[in-house]
Amino acid sequence: MTKRKIIIANWKMNQLFDDVDNWLENFKKYYDKSRRQLKDVDIVVCPPVYIIDYIDGELMNLSLPEIEKAITQNKVDADKISEEELNKLLYDNRMFAIGAQDCHFEEKGAFTGDISANMLKEIGCEYIILGHSERRKYHHESDEIVAKKVRNVIKSGLTSIICVGENLETRQAGRHKEFVANQIIGSVPRNIEFEDLIIAYEPVWSIGTGITAKTEEISEMADFIAEIIRTKFKNVKNQSYILYGGSANSKNSAEILAVKNIDGLLVGSASLEAEEFFQIVKTSLLPLS
Ligand code: PGA
Repeated sequence: MTKRKIIIANWKMNQLFDDVDNWLENFKKYYDKSRRQLKDVDIVVCPPVYIIDYIDGELMNLSLPEIEKAITQNKVDADKISEEELNKLLYDNRMFAIGAQDCHFEEKGAFTGDISANMLKEIGCEYIILGHSERRKYHHESDEIVAKKVRNVIKSGLTSIICVGENLETRQAGRHKEFVANQIIGSVPRNIEFEDLIIAYEPVWSIGTGITAKTEEISEMADFIAEIIRTKFKNVKNQSYILYGGSANSKNSAEILAVKNIDGLLVGSASLEAEEFFQIVKTSLLPLS
């Protein structure tokens, strides 16, 4: 069975209401033209937390015509449908899944300004990015904290997207493999069961810099990470995915996605514009050369 590709938008601290409305409208225009093909790729959008609930509602509204179509074509019996089935239909017909960019490591408590995985689940999140280098840098998140967060996300029934990656100094010193191996061992718990394990390799020197890692560099790290997962993590029930992130855009995405052991992309600035992000998503459907 071929593995599905996962393309994730990380909007970071960007996009006000009007920007989001425009983005959704534009993305839908492109999406509708290729709806059937796009069933084969997992698209996840991680907006700032203030707007997640709104997007969740918009996605529900936008998927209603698809449900109505299924009902009129008699694929679904409207009288007999249970709430659970209706929810599944609504989720299955969404243009994309929603993710958050971080969460706290506890379920609840006196943590002013924080939000938990369970709360994010309540407003429609299915994924949570953890250990992003910007969180590690500006919020001093250690591997240990990231591992605690991962544990809590899994307990909430959500999927974590765990980020790792070396800075320029470490790469120039030739210590990138050792560094990333330690980050993975420290940030990914081994005593819990993952449905799917998603690791995003994001070299810090390529994030937001316009400098994409070379395919040889991505390939070396993807093979290395795949080997770590294969040998050290027996606690994955379904699939493991390795994503690349760092100045990915519609011009380089096809080449990166063709790298063996790369299963998707985590896209920052190029995801802020709907058409550009859509083009990246589309390259994930190209047959690999
Ligand atoms: P970038 O960000 O695509 O803007 O480099 C990627 C990320 O931080 O996930």
